[in-house]
Amino acid sequence: MKPDPRLSLELAGIKMESPLMAASGCYGYGFDYADWVDPRDWGAIVLQGTTLEPRIGNPPPRLAETPSGMLNAVGLQNPGIDYFLNEIRPRLKELGCPVIVNIAGETVAHYRELAAIFDGVSEVSAVELNISCPNVRCGGISFGRDPAVVKELVTAVRQVYRGPLIVKLSLEAGDLKAVARAAENAGADALSLINTLKGMVIDTTCRRPFLGNITGGLSGPAIRPVAVRAVWDAAEAVSVPLIGMGGITTADDALQFILAGAAAVAVGTANFINPWIAREINLGLQRYLDENGLGHYRELIGAARSGKGRR
Ligand SMILES: Cc1cc2nc3c(=O)[nH]c(=O)nc-3n(C[C@H](O)[C@H](O)[C@H](O)COP(=O)(O)O)c2cc1C
Repeated sequence: MKPDPRLSLELAGIKMESPLMAASGCYGYGFDYADWVDPRDWGAIVLQGTTLEPRIGNPPPRLAETPSGMLNAVGLQNPGIDYFLNEIRPRLKELGCPVIVNIAGETVAHYRELAAIFDGVSEVSAVELNISCPNVRCGGISFGRDPAVVKELVTAVRQVYRGPLIVKLSLEAGDLKAVARAAENAGADALSLINTLKGMVIDTTCRRPFLGNITGGLSGPAIRPVAVRAVWDAAEAVSVPLIGMGGITTADDALQFILAGAAAVAVGTANFINPWIAREINLGLQRYLDENGLGHYRELIGAARSGKGRR
C-alpha cells in the first residue's frame, strides 16, 4: 500500500508511515504473515515477547474462545534471547518497517540485561517493556501494579538503554494514572496500553477450569471499552505519547483510541481472523480524513477531550 503522508508520524523518535502497529504476541516475529501481507502496511511491528532464557510456556489448552474475544495463556513461550540474536535479528531489516522488541523478565536485573543488549542495535527501533502479562507466575503484571516498582524497573532499564523506551501497562494496575506517571518520570518515552485482562472459563462438562493455566488474558473487542477508557485516563495523567490497543478491528475502533488521546494504535487479536487488517484500517483512516476534510490524522489525537465534538 502506498504510504499516505497524512498518516505519518514520529513517535518517541520512531519514524512511522502509519499510526497502526502490530501488537506484541499476535504477529510473531513479523515473517509469518509476510507471504500474504506487506509488512510495510504497519507503521511498526512489535515482536512477540522475548525473555533471557527460552520458555516453553504454559500447559495446554492455552486458548479459549469467549464472547467477542479470546482468552490466552500462552505464557510468553519464546526461544530466548540467544536464538533471537542469532536467527531473528539478522532478518529484521527484510520487514521494511520499524521493529520494536518486547521484553519480559522475572527480575529487574533480567529486564536490565535484556534492554542493554538492544542498546545501539540498528535493526531495532525501540524496546517495549512488558510489565503487564497476566499469564506468568513471576514478573509480568506483578511489576506493573506498583508505581514504586515501575519506577525502579524503568530507571534501571533507562540507565542501560538509550533508544526509544515504551512501557506497556495493564488496567490491572490498581492506580493506572500513578503507574503511568511513575513510568514517565523514570524515563519512558511512550506508554502502550492495555495488555490482556485476567479471566477464566470453566468447562462445565469436566467441571474444571478450561485452560491448563487455570486463568488467561482476555483480549479482543470484549475489552475495547475499558481499553479506550484506560487511554482516556492515561492521557490525563502523562504527556508522553500513548499507544492504544484492546479490541481494535476497524478504522472506527482505531479512531476511538486516537480521539481519546492515543498517538498510535496497535492491533492484536484481530490479526488471527483477518491478516489484511492493517491495510483495511489504513484505508478506513484515509477515508475518514477525506470525508472530514482533515489534512493529517494528528488533528484527531485527543480531540474527544476538548468537549467540542461534532453533533
Ligand atoms: C496470544 C497473545 C499473545 C500475547 N503476547 C504478548 C506478549 O508477548 N507481550 C505483550 O506485551 N503482550 C502480549 N499480548 C497482548 C497484546 O499485545 C495486546 O496488548 C492485547 O491482546 C490487547 O489487544 P487486542 O485486543 O487487539 O488483542 C498477547 C496477546 C495475545 C492474544
